Order: sequence, then structure tokens, then C-alpha cells
Amino acid sequence: MEISEQDIQFFINAVKDVSTYNFSDYSDKSLKRRIERLLVENKVNLKGLILKIQKDNAFLEQIVKDITVNTTELFRDPEVWQEIRQRVINKLKDRKSINIWHAGCSTGQEVYSLAIMLNEMGLLDKCNIYASDLNTDVLEVAKKGEYKYRFNLNYLSNFDQVLKENSYNYSQSIDVNYDKYFEIDKNSDKIKMNDFLIQKPFFKKLDLVKMDNLFYKDFDIILCRNVLIYFNLSLQNRVIDFFYQNLTDKGFLILGKHESLLGYPENKFDKKGKFYRKIDV
Ligand SMILES: C[S@@+](CC[C@H](N)C(=O)[O-])C[C@H]1O[C@@H](n2cnc3c(N)ncnc32)[C@H](O)[C@@H]1O
Repeated sequence: MEISEQDIQFFINAVKDVSTYNFSDYSDKSLKRRIERLLVENKVNLKGLILKIQKDNAFLEQIVKDITVNTTELFRDPEVWQEIRQRVINKLKDRKSINIWHAGCSTGQEVYSLAIMLNEMGLLDKCNIYASDLNTDVLEVAKKGEYKYRFNLNYLSNFDQVLKENSYNYSQSIDVNYDKYFEIDKNSDKIKMNDFLIQKPFFKKLDLVKMDNLFYKDFDIILCRNVLIYFNLSLQNRVIDFFYQNLTDKGFLILGKHESLLGYPENKFDKKGKFYRKIDV
């Protein structure tokens, strides 16, 4: 079911009228695809969808969750994690404490990946880890740290690639047992993070559009991977500006593999490979 730009606008306004959610600055392309899918799944036309949104708050909350893309995995883009280790964490390891914020953490795999890496580097104890998302369903999954094993078989190869292989010296491999960090139960199709990892992060709902419910901290590292791609340029820049204000001097901003600071003032961040380091101006 194809919808027009005007339909997208009707949808955005209907959501805005009955809630605090605002999709005005989301990228049109991805929003269009998502709304079209919602129409098919709910077997309604746009008018029907809007009527349901206006009448049924639970339906509206579900729609908001369906609109946002939650794809994630343990050590997503493994080659990037080697760089995070060398070019980001290594640079901060002498700080007395390290504050980290995962903005748009989805079901938490990114949070646990970094926590595992920090533990391997002997730094986990001095880290304070905060993580947020718009979607409360994914946050509940994140807090439990329990995932389907079958769907996520590549978790183990990512883990091996990041933690066991030394990308700077391939002849050297490091033995790290999976059970140090998670338990795999093939019979019940589960992979569950160990308690010391689950207890470490503080998860909460935070909408990057509104920047409400903030953590009120200065962060040494902010990760916002594969979130900005769903926003238009104006919202991207607003969010990046906010991150800039909430980073410590020479703090790091880590975006997704295919994201960049295009259009953002060049004198505010130093580009370090795939990462951005705050310049104090
Ligand atoms: C594709 S996931 C990225 C997960 C993880 N960072 C990664 O790279 O694997 C995008 C996440 O951004 C969240 N998101 C979308 N819009 C948001 C907003 N306005 N505020 C906070 N989170 C948002 C979605 O709910 C989703 O969980």
C-alpha cells in the first residue's frame, strides 16, 4: 500500500496530537516504509490507522515501537570493535573513572559488548555505564540480558573475532571462554549474560527528539550507533550538538559504521578514524 508525503504528514500530526512523540524530523524514506508496513499488518487504510491511534493509547504505544528499528547484535561490525579498543578505550584507560552513555541501545547487546571488552581490559570496575532508548520493550529485554540463541549464532563468531583474534598480530590468539560472560542453553534456545554484566548498566527511557529524562552526567564516551540514520539532517545536528555539550574534554563520540558528522561544524570534533573526539572551542 503506497502512501504519499501528505499521508506521512497526517500520520506525524496524528501521533503528535495525542502523545509526546514527534516523528517530524525522522527520515521520510524510512518512515514511509514503516507506515506502509503498518497498514498491511493492521489491515487498515491510513484513515483507519489514524482513528485507531486517536482512540487507543496502547495501540499508539505499539505503533511507536513498530516505527523504530531495533536491529542489533553482540559485537555488531566486529572490525569496528578492534578500533574501539585501540583508539578509544586505550586513550581513556588512565582516567580515574569512565562515564559511558549508549544512546539508542535497543535490546542491550552493544552495552554488553562494551562491558565485556572493558572487563577484558581490566577497566570495567571504574566504568559507569548508562544506556537509553525510546522503546520500553527493548529496554526490558536489555535489562534481562537474555537472547534467542538460534537467531544469534553469529554472536559467537563476532565474539571470537573481537576478543580472541588479535587484529594487530594474527599469529597470537587469546583464549577467552564464553562462559566467563554468558551462558548458552541450546535446549531452551537461550543465551544469557552473566549477572555481573547485567548488574552493571543503568537503563532508562530517553527520547533523543525531546532530550527529556536526562542522565545529567558528563560522558567520556557516547555511543549512538545506527540511530541517526533514521533522523533527518536537522535532528541529527541537534542531537550531535547535545552530545557535544555532554561530553568531557576530549571525550569520544562513536557513531555507526555508515554514519558521519556531515553538516556539523568541523571545528567541534576531531575525526579519529571512525570516531570523533571533542575539541574544546
Ligand atoms: C538500529 S537500533 C541500534 C541499536 C544499537 N545502537 C546498535 O547499533 O546495534 C536503533 C535504536 O534507536 C532507537 N531510537 C529511535 N528513535 C529514538 C529516539 N527518538 N530516542 C531514543 N532512541 C530512539 C530505537 O528504538 C532502536 O532501539
